[in-house]
Amino acid sequence: MKLIIINGPNLNLLGKREPEIYGSETFEDFFRDLQLKYKDVELSYFQSNIEGELIDKLHEVGFDYDGIILNAAAYTHTSVAIGDAVKGIHTPVVELHISNTHAREEFRHKSFIAPAAKGVLFGFGLKGYELAIQSFL
Ligand code: DQA
Repeated sequence: MKLIIINGPNLNLLGKREPEIYGSETFEDFFRDLQLKYKDVELSYFQSNIEGELIDKLHEVGFDYDGIILNAAAYTHTSVAIGDAVKGIHTPVVELHISNTHAREEFRHKSFIAPAAKGVLFGFGLKGYELAIQSFL
């Protein structure tokens, strides 16, 4: 099983960024533990702060991977283009948010990705990424 985690803008700052919302663990540390725990899964990780690079990566993996776990971060709420990319590929996408976006500002309630996603997970912290892997397994 080939899965990829795609993280969007500012998620490279996990561990430092608003730890009261996003926790104090870096994604690199968390990802290393995930890879160890799910040795049978071919698990990769991509992060970009640039909308077009996220779209290019969706196009690249979206026709032969078994699943995509996508946290498009703030682009979730603004990007028609990322929503269209998710609609245009064949690989199922689980949309994920570390925080409960529906318990936060109203602009975070809108998602351009959810209508095309297989499922949506939000509010479970980094644990959500593991839940998303399990959903594909
Ligand atoms: C986020 C929620 C978004 O609203 C925010 O812009 C992020 C992170 C989350 O994982 O909780 O950058 O996607």
